[in-house]
Amino acid sequence: MTYTNLHFQYLAGIIFTALILTQFGCQKAASGVDYATQQQAVFDSAAVVTAHPLASEAGKEILRAGGNAVDAAVAAQFALAVVCPRAGNLGGGGFMVIRTAAGESAALDYREKAPAAATADMYLDSLGNVIDGISRDGHLSVGVPGTVAGMATAHRHYGSGISFGDLLQPALRYARQGFRITAAEAERLNTYKEDFLKYNAEKNTPFLKKAEWKTGDLLVQKDLAATLERIEKSGAAGFYQGKTADLILAEMQSGNGLITQADLDNYAAKQRKPLIGDYKNYRIISMPPPSSGGVALMQILEAVEDYPLADYGFNSAEATHLIVEAERRAYADRAEFLGDSDFYPVPLDTLLDPEYVRGRMSDFSATRATPSDSILAGNKNLLPESFETTHTSVIDAAGNAVSVTTTLNLNYGSKVIVNGAGFFLNDEMDDFSAKPGVPNYFGLVGAEANKIEPGKRMLSSMTPTIIEKDGELFMTLGSPGGSTIITSVFQVFINVAEFDMTLPEAIAAKRFHHQWLPNVVMTETDTPLDTVALKQLGHEIAPNKRLGLVKAIMVTEDGKLSTVGDPRNPDDDVSGF
Ligand code: DON
Repeated sequence: MTYTNLHFQYLAGIIFTALILTQFGCQKAASGVDYATQQQAVFDSAAVVTAHPLASEAGKEILRAGGNAVDAAVAAQFALAVVCPRAGNLGGGGFMVIRTAAGESAALDYREKAPAAATADMYLDSLGNVIDGISRDGHLSVGVPGTVAGMATAHRHYGSGISFGDLLQPALRYARQGFRITAAEAERLNTYKEDFLKYNAEKNTPFLKKAEWKTGDLLVQKDLAATLERIEKSGAAGFYQGKTADLILAEMQSGNGLITQADLDNYAAKQRKPLIGDYKNYRIISMPPPSSGGVALMQILEAVEDYPLADYGFNSAEATHLIVEAERRAYADRAEFLGDSDFYPVPLDTLLDPEYVRGRMSDFSATRATPSDSILAGNKNLLPESFETTHTSVIDAAGNAVSVTTTLNLNYGSKVIVNGAGFFLNDEMDDFSAKPGVPNYFGLVGAEANKIEPGKRMLSSMTPTIIEKDGELFMTLGSPGGSTIITSVFQVFINVAEFDMTLPEAIAAKRFHHQWLPNVVMTETDTPLDTVALKQLGHEIAPNKRLGLVKAIMVTEDGKLSTVGDPRNPDDDVSGF
């Protein structure tokens, strides 16, 4: 298929979108930009939901052009790298879970890796204490990026045959011609200006300008467009070799970063065996290590399955207490046993054995909170507010489903822009355990399983998930939110499966979260939980502004696609036909 063809399809798509929006009642974007942001809709045959209207549009454009769900997800990922620079990325990594219409499943790991020169104690001072910040900001915090290798692998193995270059066209258009930034992006760009200056002051980058960013400002990214053109021409080699690689290496040298050409040459996305588990008449397909998401999600589901959650009722003290105790145990296991299974013998069979999980719940008491083990030092701080990972869900007309979560880790990753290449590099190294028991940004602790080793992938919480009901495709979902990703995905599913909610209700419902350490129940502000009863049971409650930004598509009983973004993010947008 040619670009002209795609372009024609795009125009047709716009007209069609206009019709769809009229049908479903278009909401003007809260941002004030003239995007027709729509946070939920029901589509007949194919649907995309992402964290930006232009990325959703890119996905739909590819679906309309005959691409499958994987093609659409790849196009959306590249588009997000342009229009959502705080999380969408070329310089980061992620995970993709796929379920084909024929019921086969796959999991693709394009998580970043520690450079070969990384060492277990690279973030410690001479006394063995963690040096605050260097695993999160600047050149030393950067893992070897996986996104471009991941997208090329996804396209090669699971695409429909549309050329890779075609999938890049929407992103190229947005980078070359520019796009109007949303209020959320303007706010973030202003907030992080000082950080950008720290690492990029000498660079000619559109991200630094004298005046404050305003909603609707045009962001043109010429260097990024040139990088995308090299990827368009040479595939992954346009990133890991040649000019883009040279620019990454020059950037690393300018800031004492560790990544070498050998690191870039050695990077490969990996096809993993998806984790598959059952909950009543549902089958859960999720991400194995180096994500902790699938394991923890399945442990929590297994732990609560035998209890009458529906009878307890949504937000009842009984249900909340039970879920919190299941979460506490799953996150304790995460800290001890989970890491990159290529480097550490993660005891998956045991962790996922129903007997084991039931055994872990044997000391569960309905009348008191179980104290978290206090041997490891918890961090009682509330979660800092960073939601800069991004999730995309897609279902195509043939019934193939994709769930993909990608990240730079924190807002704009390391804040380092590759000079001349126009993209931010991740700060994913913070997801390693810099020292046993010392919490990372998300308050997560770890040990041997997740210590830094050369070439190892850092443990993640990203939980791209696809769910079957009675053997048929039912839902694709995922979320940003660091450590709270797993519990956000769990809660949305349980809200539907046990508390009989529609998908929009399930996503909008206030959430809570427990991660073993710190030993607190994090709750969204104004949550209608019975906090008095929970405190009586011995739980400490810690209100938090928001937990997770779930994006999901659910197949309804009449075979339609209920497609829903998270009302917590004004830029979330659905698209489809
Ligand atoms: O992979 C992880 O678990 C984290 N790097 C994700 C970071 C994140 O979700 C940031 N905020 N939403």
